[in-house]
Amino acid sequence: MGPWRCLLLLPLLAPALRAQQQQFMEYVERRLSLLEERISQWHDQSSRYSTELRDFKNQVLGMLEAAEKEREAMRAEAESAAVRVDRLEREVDYLETQNPAPPCVEVDETLMDKQVATAKQRKNEKYTKLTDCSDTIASVRAMKILKRFGSASGLWTKDAAGSSEKIYVFDGTANDTVYVFPRMREFTLFSATRKAARIKLPYPWVGTGHLVYDGHLYYIRQQGLSFQVIKFNLANRTVVDSSVFPAEEQIPVFGLSPSTYIEVSADEEGLWAIYATKEDEKNMCLAKLDPASLDIEQMWDTPCPRENAEGAFVVCGALHVVYNTRLPSRARVQCVFDVSGTLAPEDASLVYFPKRYGSHASLKYSPRERQIYAWDDGYQIIYRMEMKKKLEL
Ligand SMILES: *[C@@H]1O[C@H](CO)[C@@H](O)[C@H](O)[C@H]1NC(C)=O
Ligand SMILES: *[C@@H]1O[C@H](CO)[C@@H](O)[C@H](O)[C@H]1NC(C)=O
Repeated sequence: MGPWRCLLLLPLLAPALRAQQQQFMEYVERRLSLLEERISQWHDQSSRYSTELRDFKNQVLGMLEAAEKEREAMRAEAESAAVRVDRLEREVDYLETQNPAPPCVEVDETLMDKQVATAKQRKNEKYTKLTDCSDTIASVRAMKILKRFGSASGLWTKDAAGSSEKIYVFDGTANDTVYVFPRMREFTLFSATRKAARIKLPYPWVGTGHLVYDGHLYYIRQQGLSFQVIKFNLANRTVVDSSVFPAEEQIPVFGLSPSTYIEVSADEEGLWAIYATKEDEKNMCLAKLDPASLDIEQMWDTPCPRENAEGAFVVCGALHVVYNTRLPSRARVQCVFDVSGTLAPEDASLVYFPKRYGSHASLKYSPRERQIYAWDDGYQIIYRMEMKKKLEL
């Protein structure tokens, strides 16, 4: 068939085609209106959803706002509680300062009658100072926590007299080994005792009352019921001298440290021993030690109680006793006894130590650095002291 025949057929087909077209258009229109209906349904739904969403959002926002307000209120409450705690603490401190240190009275004449064994030991006599040192401590200026080493009790110190930078560490309350670190750096930087030399002593030490003074270790040895002060030369590691401490029926000198019977302390004036005996269970005694011969030059009964004492040191001839409570709180110097009688009791500052971990196992005053090496529940701490001049009586 050629194209001309088709042309011939067209006029005949036209009406049928038109009908089909009509049907198709109707169909499309139906579909469109269906679609439109659905779209409008969707539209309705989505607008409903969006309304719901908006409502929900508003609700949540409202809840958040309420929560925020509550948090604000709680924060304010916590703040006011903190302020109250602060105020309470200050009040306790204030009350404690109002509760003054026991007066450092001149010792009763009758006590002078009790003569102590040797002629050298003068008891409760006026002391003649060797130096013109007239300082007393005013406050703790700064505190530095150096590290945590060893057990809960122990002591660490530099040589209190010489210029050596070595650090000596006694870990625990009874042993025969002392660690020596060449400098502070080696002590603080390294975790173990890798950088330390060990000195094994010929006799074990007991307590935390030992001292390094002018190249010598002065340490306490227990022998049955009595105690010995051993002087040990650190350069050639030999015992230079030893002497039985001339006090009978000794008891622990600090109420809170059961293992220390004698505390050897160095100050600007020399060496001192702090101790206690059954004769006066309540208060501590003080003795001046000759570092060369270990002889006791003079002795005093002090008015400083043993109860709740955790440590003591001597500054310019004045014994400073540090007190705490059995549940450790803030340690403070609360009794000062000046052997030369130049420090007026009311002039003795009540010195508070900053808050710490537990209680002080030892407090070593360095007269050349004017700072205290403290051992606090296994932490080694330095307290820098602020000094002031004594007001002469
Ligand atoms: C000293 O301390 C070390 C380490 O804690 C321990 O092994 C040793 O037995 C102690 N020595 C004495 C004599 O107590
Ligand atoms: C150790 O040194 C001291 C003081 O220099 C001296 O008196 C003593 O004899 C020395 N001991 C030994 C065993 O070298």
